[in-house]
Amino acid sequence: MKKRFKFIPVLAVAIMTVLLIAGCSNSGSQGGLSIGIVLPTKDEPRWVQDEARFNAALEDSEYTTEILFSQGSSAKEKENVETLISKGIDVLIIAPQDGPAAGSAVEAAKEEGITVISYDRLITDTEAVDYYVTFDSIAVGKEQGQYLIDNTEGTGVPLYLYAGASSDNNAFLFFEGAWSVLQPKIADGTFVIANSSEAEALKDKAELSRDEMGKILGQITTNWDPNEAKNKAQTNLTAASAELKGDVAILAPNDGTARSISDVFGSDGDVTSYKITGQDSEKASIQYIIDGKQSMTVFKDVRTLVTDAMNMAVTVLDGNTPETTGSYNNGSIDVPAKQTEVIVVDKENVKEKLIDSGYYEASEFTGLE
Ligand code: GAL
Repeated sequence: MKKRFKFIPVLAVAIMTVLLIAGCSNSGSQGGLSIGIVLPTKDEPRWVQDEARFNAALEDSEYTTEILFSQGSSAKEKENVETLISKGIDVLIIAPQDGPAAGSAVEAAKEEGITVISYDRLITDTEAVDYYVTFDSIAVGKEQGQYLIDNTEGTGVPLYLYAGASSDNNAFLFFEGAWSVLQPKIADGTFVIANSSEAEALKDKAELSRDEMGKILGQITTNWDPNEAKNKAQTNLTAASAELKGDVAILAPNDGTARSISDVFGSDGDVTSYKITGQDSEKASIQYIIDGKQSMTVFKDVRTLVTDAMNMAVTVLDGNTPETTGSYNNGSIDVPAKQTEVIVVDKENVKEKLIDSGYYEASEFTGLE
């Protein structure tokens, strides 16, 4: 009898310790980490913008958060997610480096009961995504294409096409949007495709399948890498005949690639003028727009995306269901989504949209009127 009783306090302490640890790791508000954020890379200003906006939004938050970068590696991304899981997060906000490859990382999070929010880029081919916060990526591509249509003259205008990484679902959405407006103008001879035999072969098709887009992207991808974009542009211009130079139009998928492609076209003596698109409103591209080296960018107000993601996370932490405005199929399930509109910025409205709105300071640029 005596012996039995002796064990009770030891057992009680052991049970209490287990409960305490479980309590800490399950509820961020009790000391652990509440929200884990994983972003693709610090090497692109776009994602550094997101980090800064997250930090600003988190200043007054009662919840604890940590932001980790995957530096372009899915293995590092998985490691980051595992680190955050071990720190007891309840919500994971993640912009995947590679859409399908991120599946196993978020599946590991789901197994721990963590709510997964796909941020800006959709994680594909897995059921382990609860929500998606995003900009209207089809609209991004449409705006880029429409800008080229509205700002070039005549017919037979050489059109150089560039796209993002095939591992990023957004790259398909951007291209799909651009193709939806450019294709009729290619079919009627306004534009002549200068650098993609796959796009040329499909020029009479208004709607492309994912496989067909994949073939085109295989030729025109930049992998979101400014250096790769530069090399591709150089190769394209070296191969281009005289009639594919002169006044040209360039579909560049984002600002980082647009600047390097612009530098290449700008230094070709046979290119008389070029209109070139972009996206993200990176500071360096705003300067390029002011200087006339990039024609437009698509402004994606990261403050809104960050607010949406954080509101969603806090709603989940408070035990409620976040509001969504639609859904995106990720190849496996329909993911409830909240979507934000985008704004076209060029030399005409850059001051109004980016300075007067308080997004950037005028002093960060030169030559701003
Ligand atoms: C996309 C993102 C863009 C751009 C690109 C390269 O997924 O939506 O804003 O930055 O990746 O990182």
